[in-house]
Amino acid sequence: MTAPHLTIVNHPRVQHKLTIMRDRNTSTAGFRRLLREISLLLAYEVTRELEMTSKRIETPLGAMEAPTLEGKKLALISILRAGNGLLDGILELIPAARVGFVGLYRDPETLQPVQYYFKVPNDLDARMTIVVDPMLATGNSLVAAIDLLKQAGATNLRFLSLLAAPEGVARMREAHPDVPIVTAALDERLDDHGYIVPGLGDAGDRMFGTK
Ligand code: URA
Repeated sequence: MTAPHLTIVNHPRVQHKLTIMRDRNTSTAGFRRLLREISLLLAYEVTRELEMTSKRIETPLGAMEAPTLEGKKLALISILRAGNGLLDGILELIPAARVGFVGLYRDPETLQPVQYYFKVPNDLDARMTIVVDPMLATGNSLVAAIDLLKQAGATNLRFLSLLAAPEGVARMREAHPDVPIVTAALDERLDDHGYIVPGLGDAGDRMFGTK
């Protein structure tokens, strides 16, 4: 079964947590805690298609052929800096995952993403690779990050975010239709500064207490 291009995790626990995170009165500590909890729930959805095999085990009552995960541990790739906020929760679900980082900034003149950091596991071709960033806004950085990951060998990619804008989803569908997106909500639109509306503001600032 192939994954749909866009999956919105419309689960009551996820939506309830997201509402508190959107609220401007939620504290940095509260935002961080909820991000950790919600990322664990989203990770459950994004790993739905991990390959399975089976192995023979003995329960106290007898032998059985039991399902178990197949292949190499997966790779998580955080898009700096806000992606780091999703890592802790996901690593709770998948403690053996390998972790990589991609840093990109936007050139003020060309407005194109420029790479300033790239450190990823060296065998991405053998791993399911989950790219994480809480906000899929224009999609420009994400498309650039996925270009780099494909050049590094990744073929089995997924993207996990907290919120997505229609503009970013369309950009991904055009540039990387093979990369399924899992998110908690698809919001209305982007504003003139590239922020998601109604969104939750600047995810990095809210999780790190900057600004
Ligand atoms: N990045 C953010 O942190 N928030 C947005 O709304 C868009 C991009």
